[in-house]
Amino acid sequence: MTDFDVMVLGAGAAGMMAGIEAARRGRRVLVVDHARDPGEKIRISGGGRCNFTNVNATHILGRDRFLSQNPRFALSALSRYTPDMFIERVKKQGIAFHEKTLGQLFCDGSATQIVTMLTQDLRQAGASIWTGRSVGSIEKIADGFDVMIGDGRVTATSLIVATGGKSIPKMGATGLAYDIARQFGLGVTETRPALVPLTFEPSALEKLRDLAGVSTNAIVSHGKTRFEEALLFTHRGLSGPAILQISSYWREGDAISVDLLPGRNALDLLRAARKDSPKLHLQTVLANALPRRLAQLMGEFIGQPGMIGDLSDKKLAAAAEWIERWTLKPVSSEGYRTAEVTLGGIDTRDLDAKTMMARAVPNLFFVGEAVDVTGWLGGYNFQWAWASGYVAGLAA
Ligand code: FDA
Repeated sequence: MTDFDVMVLGAGAAGMMAGIEAARRGRRVLVVDHARDPGEKIRISGGGRCNFTNVNATHILGRDRFLSQNPRFALSALSRYTPDMFIERVKKQGIAFHEKTLGQLFCDGSATQIVTMLTQDLRQAGASIWTGRSVGSIEKIADGFDVMIGDGRVTATSLIVATGGKSIPKMGATGLAYDIARQFGLGVTETRPALVPLTFEPSALEKLRDLAGVSTNAIVSHGKTRFEEALLFTHRGLSGPAILQISSYWREGDAISVDLLPGRNALDLLRAARKDSPKLHLQTVLANALPRRLAQLMGEFIGQPGMIGDLSDKKLAAAAEWIERWTLKPVSSEGYRTAEVTLGGIDTRDLDAKTMMARAVPNLFFVGEAVDVTGWLGGYNFQWAWASGYVAGLAA
């Protein structure tokens, strides 16, 4: 007989959810983490307020909001554990929350409330939580798995791997899930930092230097993918929600295009200014629509220092092109050091979408960020963690 029915590696969002559901079914559950406290990423998420779900995650529109080599894979778990189900839990716990924008739900108070709710649920369901314990070698045994925890071996019938991805190693992220997957013959797709600020080479940065700290609403595009949200200039390059979103699609060597006047026609605006205020300089006209420092830089790029009344249609069209299709070529990203998530991971072809169990290894499960399912910014990643953890907890 094994020590536990279910051993969950990783006491993050997905691992705690899996542990709760398995323990509620009467399984003897152990949740192990090498960090001192469970749910550290939940605690710092959403600027300390945890954007715990997105109401659109299972809506028909939500279907394109998860990146994966098989974007349909996530739908099974997401439809079995919906945002409403997590919202009910949050309400029952008395945690106040609000919708910020675009369906994103945040705690009114601290993200710690979500961690407390989950750890309480785990304990009430009868699960054991061992924190500050390292996870060593894993062996398959006749009736389950034998895992080195700290300096002792512990056995369990089912093993749920919920150790997340590689983002923010400083917080204890490791590639353990990928190593376990490879050990048991599962595929791992290419992993890369996602939801991450983009950086520029020094010469490009030199031109943008004065803009550090400036924020504006923009449409940022990469091919056909576009996001209209805030764009923030930093000392290293670009950040803000629009950039974090596009970073999941961007690849080294690619350019991105920025429309600084979302929802407005730049040429119409410039023509109207030429008619109504012909003596104004282009930069002054732009400063009425954009942050002043940005207007100044765009004016320099456009290179038409005279009065707008003197500019031909052709010159106005060229100026409008700069404003609506400003092309920038990031050189890199800030990497896993600041990335919110890891794109790619355990190959979904090797997992059963209904249970998250490895197709070829009975009772071995992978959940959460470790799997090749990556959500957009805005609560989608936690919803995936809750949903994938939930279905594994029901099956393990
Ligand atoms: P998670 O990383 O949460 O948990 C993995 C656990 O495994 C950790 O507790 C870790 O210590 C443990 N572990 C790792 N390696 C181990 C090893 N070798 N041995 C033992 N234990 C090990 N998403 C969202 O939807 N809304 C939001 O507001 C935010 N905000 C946000 C802010 C920041 C700064 C970051 C970095 C990320 C977010 N995210 C987010 C993303 C979200 O945090 C992420 O998608 C989930 O935490 C993933 O949950 P998992 O449980 O899969 O991994």
